[in-house]
Amino acid sequence: DMKLTVVGGGSTYTPELIDGFARLRDTLPIGELVLVDPATDRLELVGGLARRIFARQGHPGVITTTSDLDAGVADADAVLLQLRVGGQAARNQDETWPLECGCVGQETTGAGGLAKALRTVPVVLDIAERVRHANPDAWIIDFTNPVGIVTRALLREGHKAVGLCNVAIGLQRKFARLLDVAPGEVHLDHVGLNHLTWELGVRLGGPDGEDVLPKLLAEHGETIAADLRLPRPLLDRLGVVPSYYLRYYYTHDEVVRELRTKPSRAAEVAAMEKELLEMYGDPSLDEKPQLLAKRGGAFYSEAAVDLASALLGGAGSPAQVVNTFNNGTLPFLADDAVIEVQARIDASGVTPLAVPRLDPLYAGLIANVTAYEDLALDAALRGGRDRVVRALLAHPLIGQYEYAEALTDRLIAHNREHLAWA
Ligand code: G6P
Ligand code: MN
Repeated sequence: DMKLTVVGGGSTYTPELIDGFARLRDTLPIGELVLVDPATDRLELVGGLARRIFARQGHPGVITTTSDLDAGVADADAVLLQLRVGGQAARNQDETWPLECGCVGQETTGAGGLAKALRTVPVVLDIAERVRHANPDAWIIDFTNPVGIVTRALLREGHKAVGLCNVAIGLQRKFARLLDVAPGEVHLDHVGLNHLTWELGVRLGGPDGEDVLPKLLAEHGETIAADLRLPRPLLDRLGVVPSYYLRYYYTHDEVVRELRTKPSRAAEVAAMEKELLEMYGDPSLDEKPQLLAKRGGAFYSEAAVDLASALLGGAGSPAQVVNTFNNGTLPFLADDAVIEVQARIDASGVTPLAVPRLDPLYAGLIANVTAYEDLALDAALRGGRDRVVRALLAHPLIGQYEYAEALTDRLIAHNREHLAWA
């Protein structure tokens, strides 16, 4: 049986993961699960509930908790990274100050996403180094946002890493329900960068199956558009399904107006977390609470199980959507850009499936955001105000000199305690 370690295991999200591990134990037989987190109070609350979930579902695996990263990752077959440097408080900043300049305030997109990358990359690289030291064979599965930039940092440092997000599996599940088929029957032609993707096709049965996307849009376009909060006519015009993060591009100014009128998502989540932690402390609770469904991470446990299982030689799906080196898949990007596409996954690693020539409508934005990510990673690794300005100048949602300067000042002012160079 496998040993799995979750870094950031004290997250209020963890019961979602545990529930998936319990339900899907045939796909991924876990003998030992270690939850690692520096916040010991949270960790004990979450760890307690995690054990009760395993017990209720008759899972024989042992769950331990520790704040000692090196001890926690020793002998792990796979290490999941799901941390948030600075917590919801830092996220709240990311979602707020960009609005002062008329730019979207979001934790992974635009200037807020850059702030998150700058805080996060050095921390994740340090953790990955310690994982490699403890066990060079361990797979690192990165959920930590911004997943594209973080995965790029990990892969460039030679780590055995894969980036994972729940957007694709969420759409797969949604389309399966609309089509009234099992989720495993739905194969998405999913292309782009993390949080910048389009479903170009929806195939039944596998990568070579019939493309039912036109039918899906004709019959359920209204539902799909409403779910993604994108205008229905836009979907009809594109004829493909963008992820809901494309909302920040295609309807940027409308989103900014809306965000200015309501509390940040971080504030909403912080309130939910308080409530969740109170529930987790109740010794009679032994399942994942309904309230968790209001978080964005739906199905992330299933994606994690599928990926870890396939990487460790188990029964996971042979084709899965992951973040990995481009290596020629999108010919207009460098080989060491990180893309989010379908890939063949097995014990030998990750190989992207071929992608047909892309419409310039998508290729242009992908190339632009890849250039931004390149500069963002440079700023995260080497620091300095000039590198932050360069990344923001390259970002398609910012670009203007005046805004790049003003946003840089705010980014630095709000993140000093997290940036070694500031
Ligand atoms: C989705 C995204 C994740 C993100 C999450 C935020 O799941 O794919 O990358 O972390 O939403 O959800 P939250 O409930 O924290 O707003
Ligand atoms: Mn994501």
